[in-house]
Amino acid sequence: MNPASRRPLVAGNWKMHGSRADAACLINELVARGVGTGSSEAVVCPPFVHLEEARRRLEGSRIGLGAQDACAEEQGGYTGEVSAAMLADAGCRYVIVGHSERRALYAESDDLVARKFLAAGRHALVPILCVGESLAERERDATRTVILRQLDAVLGAAGVPAFGRAVVAYEPVWAIGTGLTASPAQAQEVHALIRGRIAENDATIAASLRVLYGGSVKAANAAELFAMPDVDGGLIGGASLKADEFAAICAAADR
Ligand code: 13P
Repeated sequence: MNPASRRPLVAGNWKMHGSRADAACLINELVARGVGTGSSEAVVCPPFVHLEEARRRLEGSRIGLGAQDACAEEQGGYTGEVSAAMLADAGCRYVIVGHSERRALYAESDDLVARKFLAAGRHALVPILCVGESLAERERDATRTVILRQLDAVLGAAGVPAFGRAVVAYEPVWAIGTGLTASPAQAQEVHALIRGRIAENDATIAASLRVLYGGSVKAANAAELFAMPDVDGGLIGGASLKADEFAAICAAADR
C-alpha cells in the first residue's frame, strides 16, 4: 500500500466508445454506486463531445472530470484539435497526455507529448502523462531505456517542479486491451524506476507523485496491483465502461 501522503487515484479512460446517452447512463450509475465517495479519488475521461453532458451529470458528485488528449498549441489553425484552455473551460481537471495509442497511431513524439504536458500546466489542468514499452521493447530488454526516454523528454521540457502537480501512468503497451496484465512485481519494478528518476531531481516531489498502472486492470486484479508500494491507483480502459467493474476497482483503491 502506498503511503498516506499519496491519495490513490483511479481514472477511467473511455477511449472512443459510446453515445451521449451511454455516457449519461454510465455516469448516473457510477454516482448511484457512490463512486468517488471513498478515500481514493475517481475521475472519468469521456470523449470530447460528451464532456459537457458528463460535467452536468457529475455536478454534486465526488467524481472528477478529465479529457483524453489536448492540443499543444493555444489557439488558431489547428483543425480538429481541442486546446487545454477549452478543456479547463469545459470543467476538466485532468487530461491524459502521451497515451500509447496517440503515440503509436498518430505518431506523437516525445517532444510533442512534452509540449502537451506544458499546455495542460498553463491552464491549471493536471496532466496524466502516460509512458510504456511495447512487447518488442520488453523482449529486447529495453523497458528501462524506453520509460526513461519518455519521462526525460518531459522532465527536460517542463522541469521537475511541474511534476508536483502531475500524475504519471505506466501503461505497458502489451497489456492494453489484451487481457494480459503486468504482474504486480513487474508493475512495481517500473513504478519504482519512474519514482526513482523523479527523486534524482527532487526527492520531495517524487515522494508525493502518484504513479498509476494501466493495462487490463479489472476488479479481479486491481487489489493486488494497488497493494504494491509504488502503485498509486490505475488508469482503466475497458473496465471503466462497466459501472460495476469500475466501482469495484475504485473500492479496491480505497484504504
Ligand atoms: P485497458 O484497461 O482496456 O487495457 O486499457 C488501458 C488503457 O489504455 C487506459 O488508458
